[in-house]
Amino acid sequence: MNTTLTGRERHFGADEVIVSKTDLKGRITYANRVFLNIAGLTLKQAIGAPHSLIRHPHMPRCVFKLLWTRIEAGHEVFAYVLNRAMNGDHYWVLAHVTPSYGADGRITGFHSNRRVPKKATVDSVFVPLYAELRAIYADLWPKMAEWNTRLVEFADGEHA
Ligand SMILES: Cc1cc2nc3c(=O)[nH]c(=O)nc-3n(C[C@H](O)[C@H](O)[C@H](O)COP(=O)(O)O)c2cc1C
Repeated sequence: MNTTLTGRERHFGADEVIVSKTDLKGRITYANRVFLNIAGLTLKQAIGAPHSLIRHPHMPRCVFKLLWTRIEAGHEVFAYVLNRAMNGDHYWVLAHVTPSYGADGRITGFHSNRRVPKKATVDSVFVPLYAELRAIYADLWPKMAEWNTRLVEFADGEHA
């Protein structure tokens, strides 16, 4: 897969809604025309693919962790998400993700509707917040990895 970033932003209309649905594991089961156009995907490429196909590397992991924890517990989630089109362009959305239920009351999949977000909120809140969260991860991850190596090698010496 092409993972370059162009730095070019894509836009969709204020009267449009980007829609997709997934199974329980986040594999795409439905995508509307607006979604396919902005992501640069064909329907054939989209259906069955994991939704992380359009994950942008600047999105902090904890946003998706929060999303999955909430929707799997049956709650709805609103999130500002930066996505990556197939050619490396990017686009911001305000997503509303909900669980779908079967007749037996169990969750059968998930449904996301995205609208154009407020540019002022993206620029003043989410660009700096997500940069801060990424920096925390960049700092914590090597520390956790170092501790893991230490524990694997010297676990016996770490007991109280
Ligand atoms: C209904 C639904 C819609 C989703 N939409 C997106 C999306 O537009 N962009 C995205 O990066 N992840 C989206 N996700 C989250 C992905 O499944 C995935 O958790 C995320 O891309 C992070 O990838 P990772 O879990 O492999 O780290 C969506 C998940 C669900 C259930």
